[in-house]
Amino acid sequence: MPPKVLVTGSAGQIGAELVPHLRSFYGDANVVAAVHKAAGPPSLNDGPVITLDTDDPDAVASAVRDTGADTVYHLAALLSATGEKDPQLAWKVNMDGLRNVLEASRKGGVSRVFWPSSIGAFGPDAPRKDAPQNAPLNPTTIYGVTKVAGELLCNYYFVKYGLDVRCLRYPGLISNVTPPGGGTTDYAVEIFYEAIRKGSYSCFLREDTVLPMMYMPDALKATVLIMEADPSRVIRHLGYNLAAFSFSAGELAAEIRKRIPGFRVSYAPDSRQKIADSWPMSIDDSEARKDWGWSPGYDLQGMVSDMLTKLKARLALR
Ligand code: SER
Repeated sequence: MPPKVLVTGSAGQIGAELVPHLRSFYGDANVVAAVHKAAGPPSLNDGPVITLDTDDPDAVASAVRDTGADTVYHLAALLSATGEKDPQLAWKVNMDGLRNVLEASRKGGVSRVFWPSSIGAFGPDAPRKDAPQNAPLNPTTIYGVTKVAGELLCNYYFVKYGLDVRCLRYPGLISNVTPPGGGTTDYAVEIFYEAIRKGSYSCFLREDTVLPMMYMPDALKATVLIMEADPSRVIRHLGYNLAAFSFSAGELAAEIRKRIPGFRVSYAPDSRQKIADSWPMSIDDSEARKDWGWSPGYDLQGMVSDMLTKLKARLALR
């Protein structure tokens, strides 16, 4: 029997691709996409879609009950740059939403929950290169604070109630279906749209800024891998470090320029630079590799080629 799945935040960058991905093997009817506002992206249209405000505990409990979900992917959240603009809202959306989902899940008989943590859980005192699984987690953004508190809350629900919550610390995610909104790593997506549309891009980070990144097909692969892993292989219910590749903004621009000759990039760092500078440049994900067999499929070159091919086709269709 396939699981009955509820995905919150389905209109976002991850949800818009995770929902069709899960439906491709669990069946369209078995994956309910919950969106915050009435209209979700077209990628959700092949199966059930509901509206859900995860800040509302009763609405979350009803959604779990009405859908009969036994598995929940809770993706609804604010990202780092948006969080700095309104820290109170970031706490409310990220923490109240998670608490509501965990409570509704344990009371509603959900057996497995996925929750995304992030490289934003690290702060300036973590090693900047190959940040290990057990690096200190002292973030200096409200987004990071919610990720660390959220990891602890997920682990608490596992220890206290036996709720099988699984967490990944995603790197910056690069994708071509739905753009991210309000993150510090968003430049690595925007740059592709602007390269194709205009042949130039003004980057909000410095040219030498290196961050850990991953192509969306690998993020989907890791998410399904950890969610389907036998419980004996999921040793941690705090976030697992997850990595694919790291590059500087300048290196990404050069890789795109190989395929779009003449592509021009200027650099105008804004407040997001401080956030980027507080995060590691690369991540050691050896525990994910050892515990549940993770390995990424895309490197920088493979990602850039595929992004340009897919995005050119997508933008030409509009
Ligand atoms: N991509 C996120 C952000 O930039 C980090 O997890 O906020």
